[in-house]
Amino acid sequence: MLIKSSDELPRKTLFKRFPIPRNAQVPPEFRIQPGKVWPEPEGAENVKRLRIFRYNPENGKPPQIDTFTIDRDDCGPMLLDALLKIKAEIDPTLTFRRSCREGVCGSCSMNIDGTNWLACIRSMDELDEPATIYPLNSLDVIRDLVGDQRHAFAQYAAIKPWLQAEAPSSGIEHLQSPEDRSKLDGYYECILCFCCTSGCPSHWWNGDRFLGPAVLLQAWRFLADSRDQATGERLDELDDPFRLYRCHTILNCTRTCPKGLNPGKAIAEIKRKMITRQS
Ligand code: SF4
Ligand code: SF4
Ligand code: FES
Repeated sequence: MLIKSSDELPRKTLFKRFPIPRNAQVPPEFRIQPGKVWPEPEGAENVKRLRIFRYNPENGKPPQIDTFTIDRDDCGPMLLDALLKIKAEIDPTLTFRRSCREGVCGSCSMNIDGTNWLACIRSMDELDEPATIYPLNSLDVIRDLVGDQRHAFAQYAAIKPWLQAEAPSSGIEHLQSPEDRSKLDGYYECILCFCCTSGCPSHWWNGDRFLGPAVLLQAWRFLADSRDQATGERLDELDDPFRLYRCHTILNCTRTCPKGLNPGKAIAEIKRKMITRQS
């Protein structure tokens, strides 16, 4: 199931040049319905309301938005703490991915108040009231907040994300100067959360052929590595009107990266390398 439209009222009044009727082209079985409003915790004075997207393909019902109210005085500070509390104490069927709760595994990426981010490093202080939580957009929804990332990881595998090099004749490891090592800064930190790819309009329309910002940032991470010896083959693979050049520098990717990385710059570096090898 792919979320194509929502009944969310816009938070801000924006000028609409081409208003589209709500739920246009969305079959009735996929229209998002109002869901269950769970009881508020008794006696709680400091509460947070979370409106959470729910979808279970096994019950045959359309997706819905459930509303949960959390006692913040009895909960950790982050959105992931609230989701874990809901799952443990209110509704054990709530489904989401998480692992590290440190912002390093990339599992808990979701759409939070309209922006792709990691639930474990998003403070509830920063959320709207009520906050609105959806799965990452543009991914097929498997259940609740879990999107299908198989295509994204298949694209990742396609760029051969490992060092390709002959063994050094000296028989020791490949050495790298501190200066060359610093060229990986801003790229090696990517945790493959796919917040950027999910927010990229070019990937929405051409995701079958355009590799998207996360995978292209990873491609640059290996192109920039002085120990890698497959630069020519890597560039040959990327030299394609869709795989690389469907990026139109809209920079949604850079705006949404929860690790503060710049996939747009990585893509520009690949394009520059492509040009310099042709000249
Ligand atoms: S800069 Fe390129 S990759 Fe990033 S959001 Fe825009 S089109 Fe997508
Ligand atoms: S570049 Fe940022 S948003 Fe994109 S996958 Fe890597 S960490 Fe996530
Ligand atoms: S749980 Fe690992 S990044 Fe959030």
